[in-house]
Amino acid sequence: MTNLTTEDIDAVCNLVEELCGICWDESKAYLIESRLASIVEQVGCENYRDFARKVRAELVPGLKEQVLDAVTTNETLWFRDGSPFEALQHKVIPELIDEKANTIFPKRMRIWSAACSTGQEPYSIAMTIADLLPDFDQWDIQILGTDISPAVVEQAKSGIYGELEIGRGMDALRLKRHFVKNGNKWQVNERIRSRCSFQPKNLHEPFTGFGPFDVVFCRNVAIYFSKEDQRTLFNKLADVLTPSGWLFPGSAESLAHCGPQWVAQQHCRSNCYRPNQTVLANA
Ligand SMILES: C[S@@+](CC[C@H](N)C(=O)[O-])C[C@H]1O[C@@H](n2cnc3c(N)ncnc32)[C@H](O)[C@@H]1O
Repeated sequence: MTNLTTEDIDAVCNLVEELCGICWDESKAYLIESRLASIVEQVGCENYRDFARKVRAELVPGLKEQVLDAVTTNETLWFRDGSPFEALQHKVIPELIDEKANTIFPKRMRIWSAACSTGQEPYSIAMTIADLLPDFDQWDIQILGTDISPAVVEQAKSGIYGELEIGRGMDALRLKRHFVKNGNKWQVNERIRSRCSFQPKNLHEPFTGFGPFDVVFCRNVAIYFSKEDQRTLFNKLADVLTPSGWLFPGSAESLAHCGPQWVAQQHCRSNCYRPNQTVLANA
């Protein structure tokens, strides 16, 4: 592969932004080489401009998906950052229990882990709730995990993790309680897996048919998007949350620039946001 030209870099950055909204610029030249060079060679392209054209043309089956798997950063771990899961346990779920008590579906909860990577986040949510509710099995709880990368969605569906992945945030007690050992791997047990479903989803597409959700975790993905795309994403999320729902962005992500429809709160040292009732009432 020849050295990257400015045109190559522009072609790849435009392609990546078009496919998934991730903002790359010339400072990411090393990522272009390390993540895409072998795919460019594999499909026999002379340079990255031809490659971008080929991906857009969708003539090579599975190529677009391969690029999405390569350009996304799927870093995740169990109970990442701790505090959002403490907030779930001590604040969000107890409030939802009270709120739902007098409704027609008193034991139903719907939760979305948007950009769930390999599944540690939605499974951590399910485990938190299972450990909290003595009658967990009587609850109608569904946790949806979505991600743009088909490869991570497949792993999330399997619920199978190696020692290294387990070593990142899973404690011995929960490992014993919520997993079965399978050779040198661990699989999330059926009780937890049956509450979680997974599907590919690009957060830049419309959310038609999604929701309403009581809780949305959308963490550590908006940081890769432009400010404008972040605003659009969080505004769309407001439309799929219940009026008293909860949104957890990543610890480095803020909705301060998203206008008045969100109210910031802090619970268990975790930042979260709720729909602004005044704005809703005047809508
Ligand atoms: C850093 S991981 C975060 C995983 C998890 N939420 C966490 O905080 O541990 C970011 C994920 O966002 C996904 N992603 C990137 N762009 C996306 C998009 N446009 N739509 C949906 N998911 C996207 C990536 O595939 C990746 O798995």
